[in-house]
Amino acid sequence: MIIKSTTFIKSSTKLKDCPPFYKPEYAFIGRSNVGKSSLVNMLTGNGKLAKVSGRPGKTQTINHFLINENWYLVDLPGYGWARISDSQRKEWKVMIDNYLYNRENLMVIFVLIDSRIPPQKIDVEFVNHLGENGIPFVLVFTKADKQSRVKTDQAVANFKNALKETFEEMPDIFITSSETDLGKEDILSYIERVNNLFVIPPDKQIIE
Ligand code: GTP
Ligand code: MG
Repeated sequence: MIIKSTTFIKSSTKLKDCPPFYKPEYAFIGRSNVGKSSLVNMLTGNGKLAKVSGRPGKTQTINHFLINENWYLVDLPGYGWARISDSQRKEWKVMIDNYLYNRENLMVIFVLIDSRIPPQKIDVEFVNHLGENGIPFVLVFTKADKQSRVKTDQAVANFKNALKETFEEMPDIFITSSETDLGKEDILSYIERVNNLFVIPPDKQIIE
């Protein structure tokens, strides 16, 4: 897929504030600092679209980006960030869960996993929860440029192993680097295919 346009639409703190749901949508979720915002920028070829930071907790809202006037990429806050108050953590969880489980046009959730570390409980639990609720998702192993391919493949195998108790069929997997564009074509082709499956809800067939 060729990216012709990228437009920041809005930041929302509630599902009901999100843009209309007449276009297919893909959301990036994962632990803080895993590289969600960087992946938005890498895929779109627009290094300034989403805000990136070396400090965890940079993204704090639901951010909608419209791509090619045709589909949305959504950058979410990270989970598992230690330096945050309990009440703030709860608030974010409610916001994110409500979005993830109720957003009507959300086609697939991209769960980002740091390829350099062993399977983390918080990631495995999150993925299991999506599986239990029948929410479509894929796994993205990030920061592959930071180590050899052998190590990344091992990390993928370890994560699959951690999932095998709960999943009969493994989700689709992508390996990426926002530094080298690894995985870019694969993910964009995947999104292009899934875009074709989007059906506008019959009672919502109006022009935005
Ligand atoms: P929060 O918004 O805090 O949840 O983080 P995030 O998941 O959006 O991470 P972000 O994209 O802001 O990246 C965090 C840090 O990791 C930044 O310093 C990025 O430059 C770095 N980073 C992200 N992706 C990659 C990658 O593929 N390779 C390398 N080498 N660094 C990366
Ligand atoms: Mg971010």
